[in-house]
Formats: sequence, C-alpha cells, structure tokens
Amino acid sequence: MAGAPGGSRGSELEASPELVTHRTSLWGMELGLQEGANFVLREKVVRVMRIAFLGDVVGEPGRQAVKEAIAWLREQWDPDFFVVNGENAAGGKGITPRIAYELLRYGADVITLGDHAWDQREVIPFFAEEPRLIRPLNYPPGTPGSGFVVVEGNGKKLAVISAQGRTFMGVPVDNPFILIREILPELRAQTPCVLVDFHAEATSEKLAMGWHLDGLVSAVVGTHTHVQTADDRVLPGGTAYITDVGFCGAHDSVIGREKQSVIQRYLTLLPTRMILATEGIQADGVILVIDEKTGRAQKIERFQLPVGLRTVVGSSLGASQSPGN
Ligand SMILES: [Fe+2]
Ligand SMILES: [Fe+2]
Repeated sequence: MAGAPGGSRGSELEASPELVTHRTSLWGMELGLQEGANFVLREKVVRVMRIAFLGDVVGEPGRQAVKEAIAWLREQWDPDFFVVNGENAAGGKGITPRIAYELLRYGADVITLGDHAWDQREVIPFFAEEPRLIRPLNYPPGTPGSGFVVVEGNGKKLAVISAQGRTFMGVPVDNPFILIREILPELRAQTPCVLVDFHAEATSEKLAMGWHLDGLVSAVVGTHTHVQTADDRVLPGGTAYITDVGFCGAHDSVIGREKQSVIQRYLTLLPTRMILATEGIQADGVILVIDEKTGRAQKIERFQLPVGLRTVVGSSLGASQSPGN
C-alpha cells in the first residue's frame, strides 16, 4: 500500500466502489439522492471524508473571509477538516503566533505556509509549540518546524504535507518531487488520506506534481499565485488536483494588494509600499470528498465565497499576478 520513493508508477489507491454517501452539491444541485440519507449499493457503504481547503489568507480581510467561510461551509457542507494556507495572514507577510491561534479558533485544523513562512520572526520558535502549523517540507535539515502533520477528528485521520516549488520562486529549496515521495510511506502507514499543498508559481511544475503523485495521495492543491484556476479534476489514479485554489482576502485588488500601489511599481520600477486592499472580500478554495478507507478522491469542487453575501459563485473573480504572493 505504501508508496516507495522512486518505486513503480501506477495507482496505489484502490478503485473506489460506487458512490453511496451523497451530499447536496455545493452549488445547490441535487445529486439525485435525498438529503440526509445514506444509500447502500452492492451492500457496501463508503465512508467519506470531506475537507475544505482555503487559499492564501491575505491580512485582516483574509482572516475575516476565513472566519465567515468556515462558518458557512460548516453549515452547508459539514467538512471533517479545514486546512488553510496562512502564509500571508499577518499583513500580507507571514504569520504570527497570535494570528495562527486566531485561524485555529475560527476552525482551521491545519495551517500550511509557503515562501512567506519566515517573514515574522516570532513564528520561528512557535513551530516547536504548535504542530498544526506546518512550513514547506523541502527546506534544509535543521529548519524549524515540520513539513507535515497528521490530524484526527470525527474518528478520521488526515495527513497534510506543505511543499514549495522551485521554478520562479527565488529560493533554492530542496527537490519537492523527491522529498514528498520519501515521506509518503511514513504518513500512509497512519492514514491513506493525504493532502498536499504545493505552493508554487509555475503551472507546469504544479501539474507535474499532480501527475507525479497521482494514485499516491488523495489531493494535490496548488497555492501561491492567488488566482483560482478552473482545472479542478480527479486524475485517473484517484488524486484530486487543482493548479491554484485562489486566495482569501480583498479581491478588488491585485492579488490582495491595493491596485494603485502595484500599478505604480510597474510604471516606475521604484520600490513602493504594498498596501493591503480592503474591498471585495472573498474566500477562495475547494471542497474535497475522499473515500476514507482507500484515500481515493471522489470529488473536488471550487468555491469563491464573497463575505457578507453568503453566495457561492463558480467562475473567475481573480486578480492579476504581481510580486509578493
Ligand atoms: Fe507564496
Ligand atoms: Fe501567498
């Protein structure tokens, strides 16, 4: 069952039996099954794990979006776990212990990070105290914190890995393609349900990681660009994939920053102070439905949840790319 690093390719997630546990879809479309009921096909019940993953939280507007989104998703979808990327949660730059606790209080079960993990110095000793805060796996040995964690809840167990890409990221981190495969046997000995947050700039690197891990993990979700992509799907081996889930914060902006300050930088090439935007607050992410026994993904659905409106929209409201994501 466990995937040996560098071993043979192919799906190690067992083929999933027919869907027997239903939900009303996130978009309100009935799946043809009655709300609240379990159905048995061929006398086999599939227990599913639902995970809500929320993209990079940008500053106070992002934290507000997370607070409201978690409450709404809990009501509508009842996820077993919430995983939140918190790399921009402190004013756009990193995370502090106080803000990490704030996100945990709102309901996050795991907080992943990225290239901004180290922006706030006080977080460095905090990694030893709070295992639910994880930094990218592929930093040199001796780096504070862990790149993965296994959490339990509702009688279910989920492993989460944070990893960082190397293309156009400016940081010479170790090879995530090799290191993730190396850590998988240890995690899959504990649970078949493994979620990877791959924090990277290049679409090609993220897609390559999705295919590299197809059949070995339950989901590979991309973060860092802050722009939600429309390529969510379950790959043939049973791994849910999306290039980028988007971000939580003010979307009337350039990836969470005030538009004029970013435009000014492109006009003049002079350093400008990046100011956080405040309008159009929205939480972006995905809902994952995983076969709890096999770890195989059954479904991935994107959401873009405007704060205050309590409405889910399913298409592009993203922002353009700029430095600082
Ligand atoms: Fe990032
Ligand atoms: Fe980010």
